[in-house]
Amino acid sequence: MAILVTGGAGFIGSHTCVELQQAGYDVVVYDNLSNASEKSLERVEAITGKPVKFYKGDILDRDRLNEVFEKEQLDSCIHFAGLKAVGESVAKPWEYYENNIAGTLTLVDVMRQHGCKNIIFSSSATVYGDPAEIPITENCPKGQCTNPYGWTKSMLEQILSDMQKADPEWNVVLLRYFNPIGAHPSGTMGENPNGIPNNLMPYITQVAVGKLPELGVFGDDYDTPDGTGVRDYIHVVDLAKGHVKALKKIEENAGLKIYNLGTGVGYSVLDIVKNFEAANDIKIPYSIKPRRAGDIATCYSDATKAKEELGWTAEFGIKEMCADSWRWQKNNPNGYAD
Ligand code: NAD
Ligand code: UFG
Repeated sequence: MAILVTGGAGFIGSHTCVELQQAGYDVVVYDNLSNASEKSLERVEAITGKPVKFYKGDILDRDRLNEVFEKEQLDSCIHFAGLKAVGESVAKPWEYYENNIAGTLTLVDVMRQHGCKNIIFSSSATVYGDPAEIPITENCPKGQCTNPYGWTKSMLEQILSDMQKADPEWNVVLLRYFNPIGAHPSGTMGENPNGIPNNLMPYITQVAVGKLPELGVFGDDYDTPDGTGVRDYIHVVDLAKGHVKALKKIEENAGLKIYNLGTGVGYSVLDIVKNFEAANDIKIPYSIKPRRAGDIATCYSDATKAKEELGWTAEFGIKEMCADSWRWQKNNPNGYAD
């Protein structure tokens, strides 16, 4: 039996493939490569010494999905495939709803027709909106999302929960990621954004490597210790390991489960800049810019539930996150194009 990993060539998916293979699972990756390179899978193979079975395909393509389910013995699916750029989702809401929601509906329909009713879904802390409590536990009510991307996550959580309620043969684990950064410590795999990065860490590493002149810090007048936004950054390898633990939960026929995957620690934008500079001995020039629309002041998790129920805790600290992000960028200034 193998695990279907949709979006497995992407940032979090490729790191999860490493952890799955190292934990003894066989993986089948399904990805349309709209935001990834097949090279990431070669790097997975180089790290684990095991082949990765890859099907190029779209989650909207029912025939292709059927073909994969007919050829492979698939036990569970870890579903990463989706579009994730917040700003782009505001400009192209239809494309986001179509890809993420219609795509997931097609995927789960094909899954159930083949008797595969185990799914781990990549959700996000964005479903909490402007959170009603900090640190955020899973009991915190879901909030108003500020963009269509966030709504796709919130709606898909609802859809998958309703399906599980109607058919208890489904096991559904919703993982709410906080802010994944870092890269595989080998320096051979990492985040590979298209164009100018939207997210903080890839922006910083591109300033460090000389591709961008300086970092813009979006607002220094938030109600936080230094006025800049506070987030719960989590090493992508820790995040990937959380999926292996979630699979164990599925194997216990756990029904519907929801977990935050974060460290429980909040760092400000300037904390990240300082830690990056200290870990790598590189100066990051920055200037203060206006707030970015849709941003909130503070977002960090209470990660107790994942610890108690999954036996999972993030192990890497901010130093490793900064060092590993930089090792990847330095060794691969153009990402997988190098
Ligand atoms: P990513 O873009 O690197 O990976 C997503 C993968 O899905 C890509 O390889 C892309 O080619 C593929 N894909 C997109 N649409 C597809 C489709 N229709 N059919 C098949 N493949 C398709 O992003 P990531 O950072 O690895 O994120 C993985 C998942 O985690 C996404 O669902 C994302 O929304 C979610 N997530 C990410 C973050 C983050 O900050 N990176 C935070 C919370 C949740
Ligand atoms: N920031 C800057 N300058 C930049 C980029 C970001 O100051 O160039 C700041 C932001 O204002 C924010 C912090 O850095 O305070 C983090 O911003 P990111 O864009 O890296 O991450 P977000 O918290 O905005 O959002 C990310 C993902 C979302 C996901 C969310 C919660 O992009 O998809 O984490 O998981 F929903």
